[in-house]
Amino acid sequence: MSVEINGRKFRILIESSQISKKVSELGKKITQDYRDKDLVIICVLKGGLIFLADLVRQIEIEAEIDFIWASSYKDSMEAGEIELLTDIRIPIENRDVLLVEDLIDSGATLDFIRQHILSKHPKSLKICALIRKNKTPKANIYIDYLGFEIGDKFIVGYGTDFAEHGRNLPDIYVIDN
Ligand code: IMP
Ligand code: MG
Repeated sequence: MSVEINGRKFRILIESSQISKKVSELGKKITQDYRDKDLVIICVLKGGLIFLADLVRQIEIEAEIDFIWASSYKDSMEAGEIELLTDIRIPIENRDVLLVEDLIDSGATLDFIRQHILSKHPKSLKICALIRKNKTPKANIYIDYLGFEIGDKFIVGYGTDFAEHGRNLPDIYVIDN
């Protein structure tokens, strides 16, 4: 099935059933790993919103949730400067923080957010990302909980956007060149 968003054609890359299966596996792992910990989940807006909502319902231990909003991609497929738009409100010093991200491309946004979180002195910091592009330099960004690795293609859906369109699509689509 294909859809048209902003005049560009997209086709399904990852179906919602595959996503739910993966999200439930990730939730199980996180539940095991954080059983005796003081878990604070920080969702990276806006792209991480849908993933977060599904993931937290697969985590069977207590967790606090907060949001951080940093943006690099402005209104299109062009990368720009990274800026912090909204900071977290929950204190995280000496607590076990899990960052939840939709998508890691160059890793620049994650690196920026990670440094920012680390400056607040959490006890631990781990990363959970639904998708990583295979061109992401693996040396400097370790992803503790990863859903899918994809090629260097532009995607949309399940929280990720094309110029703010398509976040509500239940499946993940890839641009059809
Ligand atoms: P990075 O800083 O290059 O890793 O880019 C990360 C952010 O850029 C993601 O959280 C997305 O918001 C956005 N982004 C990167 N690639 C895509 C894409 O293929 N589709 C939609 N958004 C993307
Ligand atoms: Mg985005």
